[in-house]
Amino acid sequence: MAQPQRLVVLISGRGSNMEALLQAAQRRRWAARWGAQVVAVLSNRPQAQGLQVAAQHGVATEVVDHQAYPSREAFDAALAQAIDAHQPTLVLLAGFMRVLGAGFVARYQGRLLNIHPSLLPAFAGLNTHARALQAGCEVAGATVHWVDEGLDSGAIVAQAVVPVLPADTPETLGQRVLAAEHRLYPRAVERLLAAGL
Ligand code: GAR
Repeated sequence: MAQPQRLVVLISGRGSNMEALLQAAQRRRWAARWGAQVVAVLSNRPQAQGLQVAAQHGVATEVVDHQAYPSREAFDAALAQAIDAHQPTLVLLAGFMRVLGAGFVARYQGRLLNIHPSLLPAFAGLNTHARALQAGCEVAGATVHWVDEGLDSGAIVAQAVVPVLPADTPETLGQRVLAAEHRLYPRAVERLLAAGL
């Protein structure tokens, strides 16, 4: 078998995409097929709900609290140190809500993926569902992309499309997109694993 694939997931909150990745890894036997496993879940927020979920799955968790650092650079350096301790082949941002500096991004170039709740390049940034409704979009969706130094601007790996319904609110649209995200992120990662990254 090729080199084992060590996946580290970064979260800030609920962690439902992280859980979808953990479930897919188990259900679809990523370890047996590609030697791939999620070796750690890291959060920048001590209260992130996803930390408990990861622990319930038996995955190591760690907090690098951004509030404990005087600058973005200091936080990025501490985060990189925590990540590197796990020697990951892929780092998966899953609802990780901190902007990462150019040095951090360069360090993980080609190994750093993100999931974003819009059909990029439309609606980078926040409040994507409200903005999609405001713009009158007939479809919405989610994007898995490589992270570069821009805001949600890296090369697209995979996308999922959902309809926008006439009665949608940002909440109802967000739920539909999130359900699509839970299918999309594991599918995108699995495709990369199958391709040998
Ligand atoms: C997801 O919708 C994800 O796409 C989004 O945050 C949510 C996290 O949910 N990420 C971003 O907006 C990144 N800019 P989760 O914690 O339940 O996975």
